[in-house]
Amino acid sequence: MEWRRALVEIGQFGGAEIAELFAVVRGIEGELEEGKVRQVLAGKVLANLFYEPSTRTSSSFYAAMVRQGGSVIPINDVTYSSVSKGETLADTVRTLACYADVIALRHPADDATLQASRVCPVPVINAGNGKGEHPTQALLDLYTMVRELKLEEAAELRGRVVAFVGDLLYGRTVHSLVKLLRLYSVKVVLVAPAALQLPYTLRQPDDVEMSLADALAVADVLYVTRVQQERLPVELQGELRGVGFAYRVGVAEMARAKPSMVLMHPLPRVGEIEVAVDGDARAAYFRQMRYGMVVRMGVLRGMVG
Ligand code: NCD
Repeated sequence: MEWRRALVEIGQFGGAEIAELFAVVRGIEGELEEGKVRQVLAGKVLANLFYEPSTRTSSSFYAAMVRQGGSVIPINDVTYSSVSKGETLADTVRTLACYADVIALRHPADDATLQASRVCPVPVINAGNGKGEHPTQALLDLYTMVRELKLEEAAELRGRVVAFVGDLLYGRTVHSLVKLLRLYSVKVVLVAPAALQLPYTLRQPDDVEMSLADALAVADVLYVTRVQQERLPVELQGELRGVGFAYRVGVAEMARAKPSMVLMHPLPRVGEIEVAVDGDARAAYFRQMRYGMVVRMGVLRGMVG
């Protein structure tokens, strides 16, 4: 399906769609710099429907809408909505479609956006579904790589080494980003405890598993993630206790990395990257959030602009 009708999974984007979107996003960055953002979403309404906690995704969609003249219905805690009375996702989505022109949906079920899109007369955006996908995060992550590595276009990523660190099994941002990077033939390095390795369905034969120390020496991008505690089965929780220390990036680790490496994290971090690293020019995770808002401005422009 065309992503402008429903943004369900990252597989809806090919190289041409990415190039087109990123050109729009680049233009919006210019508008922001000049302080003259085109108010192309005036009169349009976004419903933010979040069944799981969120800081960045919900507020960046919010900002992306209002900075272009639109408005937002924020439903950030469904316990205060009719969901707590037992309303189904389908009915809630249909309701919001009466008031809004587009819906951003975060939900614990991997197929929530797909199901919602089947009944919803307005475009739905997957804003993170279970352990499945988080496609707008992958778009902003790719955009961050392009900008931070100072590339003209994503195609120039060919041959670069992107190392994924942490919870590659339950991390939905990893799942969407790995799929997206396959478009550009990057070298994928996997740094994870065996119990949290990337699912085989997402792997390719030339992916390599490494220790963090080895990955630091070769990575052009280090993409660090937290362990998704809320998704871990009970039996894994004991097994993984204390494992975090092997996947921690501190000042000593950064000293072993390339001077040009880009350090990313979808955030929130819970100790995987030491605060002492924040001042390092290679620490891109705060800029990554800013790119996130701009990319979501481009996504919303494409869908309802
Ligand atoms: C991520 C998510 O919700 O999947 N956060 C985000 O959207 N930036 C990552 C996480 O929760 O670990």
